[in-house]
Amino acid sequence: MNTKKPTVWTAARVSGCKNREKIACVTAADAATARLADDAGMHLILVGDSLAMTVLGYANTLPATMRTMLHHTAAVVRGVSQALVVSDMPFLSYHLSLEQALRNAGRFIQKAGAGAVKIEGGAARAGTIRHLVSNGIPVLGHIGLTPQSIHTLGGYKVQGRDTADVKKLKDDLAAVIDAGAFAVVLECVTQTMGAELTRLAGVPTIGIGAGPACDGQILVSHDLLGLTPPEATPRFARRYAELGQATAKAFTAYCNDVRRGDFPGTEHGYD
Ligand code: KIV
Repeated sequence: MNTKKPTVWTAARVSGCKNREKIACVTAADAATARLADDAGMHLILVGDSLAMTVLGYANTLPATMRTMLHHTAAVVRGVSQALVVSDMPFLSYHLSLEQALRNAGRFIQKAGAGAVKIEGGAARAGTIRHLVSNGIPVLGHIGLTPQSIHTLGGYKVQGRDTADVKKLKDDLAAVIDAGAFAVVLECVTQTMGAELTRLAGVPTIGIGAGPACDGQILVSHDLLGLTPPEATPRFARRYAELGQATAKAFTAYCNDVRRGDFPGTEHGYD
């Protein structure tokens, strides 16, 4: 009998993985996917606001609301027993005041059962991060390409290519770490920058399109599972399965069976 207790991942434990253990993270938006990711041994499951695109069909992440994110976070929490569940704070849910940020972050922890929240932005968000952390809410930082700022960034572009960019990334990293973030997501930065920021950071870096040197990696589950159309899959994602194709095949077979009268068979009925 295996008497070893399963590890329950907290923000502090994930933070302690720096220089010890690579951190595996993925997004989930529903209990079934979260359960499978948790069973696979994932350290951290992010209820990312990318669900506005992958699940709800919007063109970007900006339409995600507190209500939507709370609903999906609660579902993910119901599917997880070990991984740290982190909720993405949606656009404009933490920008208006420290009080607004604390109230909304608190809802993810108290009502939906998340273990931490994620906030996009660097130096400009340091005050908010500090306020949440000092009130007992662990915060995962997110710098580099921050999709909630898509309109000011001018598109989904790789960050860290010119000198000004490099300086900004380093300042942002230092600011969010100083404010108390337990780890920092680096999105779409050059591999050199990913390695340099990881070397500078005293907490783990979680890369998405930031190269192999990061302390951990995160992928959007729809990309990893092959549910995103191939042409829309970002270059940094590896498709570990082709569930989109498999699902289409299954739906077509079922649809044809029903139309032909081949489903249900007698074995699917009750006497
Ligand atoms: O919303 C999301 O899925 C994210 C990841 C890309 C890190 O923020």
